[in-house]
Amino acid sequence: MLTVIILAAGKGTRMKSENPKVLFNAAGKPMIDYSIELSRSLNPDKLVVVTGAGAEKVKEYLQNSSVEFAMQKEQKGTADAVMSALDFIPNEGKTLILCGDMPLMKYETLNNFINTCKHDISFISVKMKNPKGYGRIIRSSNGSVLKIVEEKDANENEKRINEVNTGVYLCSSSEIKKRLMNIDNNNAQNEYYLTDIIKGGAEAFLADNEMEFLGVNDRVQLSTAAKILWKERAESYMKDGVSIIDPSSVYIDIDVVIGKDTIIYPNVFIEKNTKIGKNVIIRSGCRINNSVIKDNVEIKDNTLIEDSFVGAFSSVGPMAHLRPGSHLAGDNKVGNFVELKKASMGKGSKASHLTYLGDATLGENVNIGCGTITCNYDGYNKYKTTIGNNVFVGSDTQFVAPVTIGDNALIAAGSTITKNVDANALAISRTNQVNIENKGKEIMEINKAKKENKGK
Ligand code: UD1
Ligand code: MG
Repeated sequence: MLTVIILAAGKGTRMKSENPKVLFNAAGKPMIDYSIELSRSLNPDKLVVVTGAGAEKVKEYLQNSSVEFAMQKEQKGTADAVMSALDFIPNEGKTLILCGDMPLMKYETLNNFINTCKHDISFISVKMKNPKGYGRIIRSSNGSVLKIVEEKDANENEKRINEVNTGVYLCSSSEIKKRLMNIDNNNAQNEYYLTDIIKGGAEAFLADNEMEFLGVNDRVQLSTAAKILWKERAESYMKDGVSIIDPSSVYIDIDVVIGKDTIIYPNVFIEKNTKIGKNVIIRSGCRINNSVIKDNVEIKDNTLIEDSFVGAFSSVGPMAHLRPGSHLAGDNKVGNFVELKKASMGKGSKASHLTYLGDATLGENVNIGCGTITCNYDGYNKYKTTIGNNVFVGSDTQFVAPVTIGDNALIAAGSTITKNVDANALAISRTNQVNIENKGKEIMEINKAKKENKGK
């Protein structure tokens, strides 16, 4: 019988935040998720999260995750946290204790620890190049573990010890219940330290990769942990056939799917449930959120795509913005400084430069000229623009919605379209041009003279 207890009640004082530490995001999800997923991978009989500081927020976040909650009323230390989960600890089997602030630990290491350690009280230790801030392991001359001394209680000699406590314990459930009864708060922080359960004898399992045990106590450590997680994730996509130019500057959320032979340039964020096909190129500075990008698409530099669909063989960007509800059927071009919102483009349609298409439906092979704008909003309501197949829209056109343009229509450049246009028609709406002979030169000379007079 295995019970897992995750300690997540601490104030997280060093984060200097209004929010609970374990809900801080590390590489796309809150830290507590990593501890919960790691615990789940062991198929425990019971999984208990100890909440306290910010308990409401933690519980709300975890409401659908079928964990049990214990409540630590006052944050009196890690032993007190386990004490508040006492009712959840059975009298038999093993209890595994993890902290909610260590997102880097690997299943293989934990599993190895559990299968190796047979002592009533075992914990994982590791040697750290910079042990500052961690509890140090004090061993006797014959090598057995005597106690753990916290940084704040350590003397100069103890501070030099680089074997530290990782905060991961595996205990006989009945034994830990006994030992918890004997812990006092006689220390520098006046806290009940869980590390004191070691005192009746314990076995340390010396792990070899210190990075797995980074405990996140402040925002610097959070960014260190997140960077490692992002890089590991990028590398796992690389192993599956995705090319990433610089894995340390690509940020891919956990639930993202990316096809083979896709190439990702630096400074790219791919977020929440995005699905990217094969042979896609994503250039620098792009962010793609909750979107589908089909095969052979190129997303050029500094493009933002949210809640949208980009069909195969399309090109989007540079500096384009697909706002929620944009749908490109395929073979499309959305170029420089083009913004789409709830706009769909049929196959082969293009908007190459400086355009806003909002609440618009475009057919196939439509060409939208530079500077085209759908005037979709009157300050109160939104209206639709509907454009048929093979329509050619000249540059600097405004569509004052609601308006519908039939197939094969031609809209002359510079037109303000306020009425529907029939299929095959030419629509032109500009003031007539007037040319006055010699008038241009005359005005220029007057202007020149004015300038010269000013100088005197
Ligand atoms: C703790 C260990 C230290 C170890 C380090 C590893 C103790 C006394 N110290 O120190 O030996 O090297 O972890 O990262 O155990 N928590 C509660 N209730 C409390 C206090 C803390 O639930 O009253 C929770 C926190 O939310 C956190 C975990 O316990 O998830 C560890 O607490 P934290 O304050 O981070 O302890 P460290 O100083 O890191
Ligand atoms: Mg900590």
